[in-house]
Amino acid sequence: MVTLKGTLPSLLLGTLLTFTSGALGANPGLVVRITDQGLEYVAQEELLALQKKLHKVTLPNFDGDVRIKHFGSVDYGFHRRLNGSFDVKVKGITISVNLLLDSEPSGRPKVAVSSCSSHIHDVEVDISGDLGWLLNLFHNQIESRFRKALKSRICEIIQDSVTSELQPYLQTLPVTTKIDHLAGLDYSLMGAPQATDQTLDVMFKGEIFSRDDRSPVAFLAPVMNLPEEHSRMVYFAISNYAFNTASLVYHKAGFLNFTITDDMIPPDSNIRLNTKSFRAFVPRIARLYPNTNLELQGAVVSAPCLNFSPGNLSTAAQMEIEAFVLLPNSVKEPVFRLGVATNVSAMLTFNTSKITGFLEPEKIQVELKESKVGLFSVELLEALLNYYLLNNFYPKVNDKLAEGFPLPLLKKIQLYDPILQIHKVGGFSGALRIWGGGW
Ligand SMILES: *[C@@H]1O[C@H](CO)[C@@H](O)[C@H](O)[C@H]1NC(C)=O
Ligand SMILES: *[C@@H]1O[C@H](CO)[C@@H](O)[C@H](O)[C@H]1NC(C)=O
Ligand SMILES: *[C@@H]1O[C@H](CO)[C@@H](O)[C@H](O)[C@H]1NC(C)=O
Ligand SMILES: *[C@@H]1O[C@H](CO)[C@@H](O)[C@H](O)[C@H]1NC(C)=O
Ligand SMILES: *[C@@H]1O[C@H](CO)[C@@H](O)[C@H](O)[C@H]1NC(C)=O
Repeated sequence: MVTLKGTLPSLLLGTLLTFTSGALGANPGLVVRITDQGLEYVAQEELLALQKKLHKVTLPNFDGDVRIKHFGSVDYGFHRRLNGSFDVKVKGITISVNLLLDSEPSGRPKVAVSSCSSHIHDVEVDISGDLGWLLNLFHNQIESRFRKALKSRICEIIQDSVTSELQPYLQTLPVTTKIDHLAGLDYSLMGAPQATDQTLDVMFKGEIFSRDDRSPVAFLAPVMNLPEEHSRMVYFAISNYAFNTASLVYHKAGFLNFTITDDMIPPDSNIRLNTKSFRAFVPRIARLYPNTNLELQGAVVSAPCLNFSPGNLSTAAQMEIEAFVLLPNSVKEPVFRLGVATNVSAMLTFNTSKITGFLEPEKIQVELKESKVGLFSVELLEALLNYYLLNNFYPKVNDKLAEGFPLPLLKKIQLYDPILQIHKVGGFSGALRIWGGGW
């Protein structure tokens, strides 16, 4: 065992590109950009790990001979059985590693060392013990041998760490994550990470899919332009693709369908879901179906999309509500149909591991679309529907949105000091950015 007292002042981490990008026209739903600051941080962390390993490095025995004036040739052996101790001071190690980053067909990241070189500025060996006086006579030679041995070990250690630690670690990146019993989240890589001088961009699919019945999504993720900012270590850019694919899944599963019955109406309401209560404004319904309860069955017509504008997110919901009278023997007879339109503003918040959403509906507009019991004013029904939506429907959707959308993070990585911004990037596509101030 050799104790190293040394400094490792610089580790240069380079990245090489390979372009095995996904199908043309397929855009990522989520991009993680690691800036030069982030890479610097990774390099520093790697350096500390490397330093620990170098402290424990075992060097091979080495033998040699040196010529000393007036004495002729002296053979020496540097073996572990040598009694005594020595301090080795290593100054100025520079390591340059090129990593080849790519994605496996499974969508998981892959890493390999494509080249590695190291340079040691200076090694000083100070030997004490029985033979210390003798060995110190030719410490220059020993130092040079020592430097060579150490230099070759550094890249071996790096190669080893990449294969046995970094690669398995990258595999901890979740490729698909379960969100709930209905939906899963696909985080497969869309291709090899792309490096520039200052950034490393990792492109993820960012698609939410039905766990029962995954089918190809009929629309593409919008193109995202990431802003040229480098003040944070890591940026996340997310388009509305994740939201819109989630909307499809939950819509198709009937999550946005609802039924309103009389027992859901607060006791002090001035309208009840029975024909008696409707008599004043829909006289025919009370005549045709005396003392009968009604049921309203609602559905959102098509999966709502998320719209981006600077600083603002919104969506619009178009609902259709069918009213039934509940006849004996569980017979439900349709009596009228309503159209309900509402604009909804959406808020996003995120903490260090998840993005969560919250919907705030604006006033609804109700329209009578079809009636078997004559035309009537929908004003009272509007109040009832507003009550239901605000107290039942949106809270249920918001509970789901509060469960959130997990960020693709490697194990043990933590973000802090996040900032969120929403902005429109060209045409109809949008992106929001999240800065994480650290790992
Ligand atoms: C090494 O030194 C220790 C004490 O410092 C002594 O007990 C031991 O016998 C020595 N071994 C050899 C091989 O000289
Ligand atoms: C949701 O409601 C709509 C309209 O009533 C209906 O067509 C659809 O089948 C329902 N979805 C589910 C999953 O029940
Ligand atoms: C967001 O949209 C709402 C309604 O469309 C508008 O009143 C509000 O001013 C917008 N906020 C910003 C920051 O643009
Ligand atoms: C929703 O917003 C759009 C655009 O601002 C507006 O034209 C429409 O009338 C709004 N709809 C409702 C139901 O408020
Ligand atoms: C982030 O938010 C989610 C959902 O609200 C919550 O489950 C999680 O514990 C939060 N994480 C942190 C680190 O606060």
